[in-house]
Parts: sequence; C-alpha cells; structure tokens
Amino acid sequence: MSVAFIMILTLFTAVISKGLRPTPLTDGSVCECVGEVINCRDRDFSFVEPFEFHSNQAEFTTLDLSNNRLSDLGRSVFSPLEVSTLNLSSNNISHVQADVFNGLQRYLRRIDISHNRLHTLPDMSQCLYVQFVDVHDNPIDGSLTAGVQASSNEEGFLDHVMRALGRTIEELTFGHETMLQHWPKTLDHLQRLKKLSIIGLNIDMLFTGSFHGYEYTLKSLRITNAKLQQIPVDIGHFHLLEELSFSTIVPKYDLGIHILLDQPFQTLNETLKVLSLENNSFTEIPSQIRFLTSLQTLSLNGNPIESIADESISFLRRTNLSDLSLANCHLKRIPNQLGHIATLCKLDFSFNKISVIESGDLSNAGQLHTLSLKGNPLQFIGRAEFFGLNSLTTVDLSDTLLSEFPRAVQNLPNVKLINLAGTRIECICNMRWVFTWIEMFQKTTLEIVGNCESIDQSLQDYIKIRLKTCPGPGILG
Ligand SMILES: *[C@@H]1O[C@H](CO)[C@@H](O)[C@H](O)[C@H]1NC(C)=O
Ligand SMILES: *[C@@H]1O[C@H](CO)[C@@H](O)[C@H](O)[C@H]1NC(C)=O
Ligand SMILES: *[C@@H]1O[C@H](CO)[C@@H](O)[C@H](O)[C@H]1NC(C)=O
Ligand SMILES: *[C@@H]1O[C@H](CO)[C@@H](O)[C@H](O)[C@H]1NC(C)=O
Ligand SMILES: *[C@@H]1O[C@H](CO)[C@@H](O)[C@H](O)[C@H]1NC(C)=O
Repeated sequence: MSVAFIMILTLFTAVISKGLRPTPLTDGSVCECVGEVINCRDRDFSFVEPFEFHSNQAEFTTLDLSNNRLSDLGRSVFSPLEVSTLNLSSNNISHVQADVFNGLQRYLRRIDISHNRLHTLPDMSQCLYVQFVDVHDNPIDGSLTAGVQASSNEEGFLDHVMRALGRTIEELTFGHETMLQHWPKTLDHLQRLKKLSIIGLNIDMLFTGSFHGYEYTLKSLRITNAKLQQIPVDIGHFHLLEELSFSTIVPKYDLGIHILLDQPFQTLNETLKVLSLENNSFTEIPSQIRFLTSLQTLSLNGNPIESIADESISFLRRTNLSDLSLANCHLKRIPNQLGHIATLCKLDFSFNKISVIESGDLSNAGQLHTLSLKGNPLQFIGRAEFFGLNSLTTVDLSDTLLSEFPRAVQNLPNVKLINLAGTRIECICNMRWVFTWIEMFQKTTLEIVGNCESIDQSLQDYIKIRLKTCPGPGILG
C-alpha cells in the first residue's frame, strides 16, 4: 500500500494562547492512508492546514478527522481532495463557513459532524450531491421562524440551508437531548428524504403536519432519547414507512400503554416491517401490533413486561413476525402460546426473570433457529421441553443458574451450538448421556461453550475425553 499521500496537518499545542507558532507534525503523528481512507482519527489535532495536491489522491474516498479537537476550519481547507465522505464527528466545531467545502463540491456525498458544538446546520449549498448528513449531538434547535422573515443572525435549521439540502439529501440524523426544543419546520424542504433519525428530542408533543414534505419518500424513522408523550399520530401519513423506532428516556417518563393510538398503525399495515419500541415502559405487548400484517422484526427490549397474555400472542400471529426480541423485560415465564407464531425464527429473551422452563412452555415453533435465554436466573429446564423445535440450531443458556447439563437439548434434532458460558455445570459421571447422545446421533459438529464448575476443563473437552471413561452405558432418557 502506497503511503505517498502525505498530509500537511499541523497541530497547535495547548500553548497557542501563549503565542507559539503551529508545530509541524512528526512522522508518528500524521494521518495514515489505509485502503480508500485517509485516517486522521484520534490525532489530537486542533487545526487543519490546507492539503497539498498528490497524483494518487483520487484513490481516497474518505477523510476521517473524527475524535480530534478541531474548532475552526479554514476556507477551502480540504481542496484539492476528492473524498466523498468527510467525518468531523467528535470535535469542538462551533461554526462552519460555507467556503470550507470549496473544492469538494462535486465529490461530497456523506458528512458527519455529530458530537460538536454547532448551533446552526452548516450551509452546504455549494455541495451538489450531499445525500447523508449526521449532525446529532450538536446544540441545534429548530428555527423559530421560517422563510423570508428569518433574520441574518438566526440559528438552527435555516430555511435557505434546508432548501438547498433538500435537493439531494436522503438521510438526516440530528437531535440533542436538551437543546432541541422546537421542531424544525424547515424539514419540509427535504423532499427526497428516505431515512430520518432524531437522537435526543426535548419536546413533549409534535403537532400535526410536522412530517410534511417527505410523506411519500420516507422509509425509516427513528426517534430515540425523546421526551415525547406519545408516538406522533402523523407517522400514519408515511406511505412507504418500513422501519420505525421509538424510544423515550426512562425512567423519568412512565408512559405505559397509552402512547399508542390505533389509527396510524392501521395505515402502516402493509408497509411496516421493522418496529422497535425499546425502553418505553410498556407493560404488555401493544395491541396495535395486530394491524401490522407485514411486520417481520419486533423489539420491545427494556419494557417492564411481566407476562404475555394469550390475546397478545394472537395479535402477533396476524403479523409475519420472524424476529422477536424481549430482552431486559421482566418476564417470569416463557409465554406458552408462543409456538403458535408459526413464522418465528429468532427469539431473544435475554436478561429476564425466567427461572424455570416446564410444561411445554416452548414447543412447536418449528421455524425457530435461534433462542437466547442468556442472563436469566434459570435453574431448571424440564426434560421434555423443547419438543418440536426442529429448526433450532443455536441455544444460548449463558450466564444462567443452571448447574446440570439440560437433558432437554436431546429434543433438538438440529442443534449446532449450546452456549453454557458463565454457568456452573457440575461435571460428573451422570452426564455420560451427553457423550452417548453425541455418539449416537453423530453430532460431530456440535459446539458446546462453557467450563466445568468442579474441575478445570471446558465442557467440550470433558464430554469428549473424560465422559467415555465413566462407568456404565449411559442410557438416553
Ligand atoms: C465517523 O467516525 C465515528 C468514529 O470516530 C464513527 O462512529 C462514525 O460512524 C463515522 N461516521 C461515518 C459517516 O462514517
Ligand atoms: C473548544 O473550543 C473552545 C473555544 O471555542 C475552547 O474554549 C475549549 O477549550 C475547546 N475545548 C477543547 C476540548 O479543545
Ligand atoms: C390495510 O388497511 C387498509 C385501510 O386501513 C385496508 O384498506 C387494507 O385492506 C389493509 N390491508 C391489509 C393487508 O390488511
Ligand atoms: C434502551 O436502554 C438500554 C439500556 O439502557 C440501551 O442499551 C439501549 O441502547 C436503549 N435503546 C434505545 C433504542 O435507546
Ligand atoms: C413474510 O416475511 C418473509 C421473510 O421473513 C418474506 O419473505 C415474506 O415475503 C413476508 N410475507 C409477507 C406477506 O409480508
């Protein structure tokens, strides 16, 4: 890999204020060119000097200046580079002049200026093809006025800036947990927007019309760390929405079930495939899910759901659910109707309060291939459990309180990985059945993760090497 591309970057030391001149960097501290990336991440730069022209510069598509201490960027500082991705994330930038991007106008596609100190979205009107902008975690509020009456010293998402950006942008990420207090009305210029992510929103309610402008283009909406009291009713106006995430800040807000209304979910019935409602204080599976006939992935992680009613299972059966995640909830049992969701492939019950699996809690989910029970206080799995889980290949029982190798795994004809890491399995001769089972069904590729409690050996080795020396034929049971 040629490293002919030498950057002229200079670093102000902390003593600028004492009048020292910028010191040229020594070899050890300049950027690194790796593949298509000019990597200047984590270099403690507080200043960038204009780059010199090099004949091989067209090879590089990304300039990564993240995690430095940049505050001011000079005019045309990146010319004559030809990069399409510029990463200025995690610096100390409070202002970006429009002429900073001079030279990159025809190349820039993706700009990340997240985690800085901007109060105003930078003017990128010179950049002709910007598709992706991330400015989250900057103290940018929505502009209070829009259009012609905006004064010249106004901050926020300015009308002329958003209008220019709207010609090309497809993905926008913004938001600040405290400073974003007004919804930016100028978002209505973004008429090609496909993906909108808001990380941090200090607003209780969104008014009708807030999403005006991109109702026919948006495919993904993510609102996290929000203080909204309910999912905006206007989500029902998106005609193509495939993915929705909504998470509030807990535990400050205890919203419960009332934050969902039927109507918007009814209109998303045919498009929505992925729904994430993490950390929202739901105590049961929201009934509105029953409208989502195309739903494939549902996450309710971090909600205080203690049990799942049979009725909720019937709601889920109306969807096309293959991936269900209920991690970090308060579940005490595996809902026994779960096997009736015929489309289910992946189940995540990690970090709940499940202590036993018995009475056919989990059977007949014939398509299920991955099951996680990690981090539950699980002590006991009945010998006759896991029947009918004929597709299950991966079962994660790590960090549970199991002390015996669970016999129910014999009921899994296609199991490939049993994870028992972080458990205290007693390795004694009455485990000989495991050896016999593996031999009998030629489970040569079965991987067992974890260590014996009583002796210093992995479960896999113990089973392979020691168990066969145990007395007795080891009856399958
Ligand atoms: C910018 O760099 C940060 C890490 O320094 C990374 O997390 C982020 O994904 C990068 N942004 C883009 C657009 O690649
Ligand atoms: C960020 O910039 C401000 C001035 O704009 C300065 O006071 C502060 O020390 C800088 N912070 C860091 C971490 O460089
Ligand atoms: C989705 O809902 C609309 C009206 O809300 C209805 O006309 C349509 O038949 C529904 N589609 C399905 C697949 O249920
Ligand atoms: C929900 O909370 C957990 C734990 O605090 C966190 O790891 C996760 O990122 C949160 N999810 C969202 C979507 O904010
Ligand atoms: C159901 O989901 C599967 C993928 O899991 C997909 O191939 C299929 O087209 C979906 N069916 C409907 C009706 O959405």
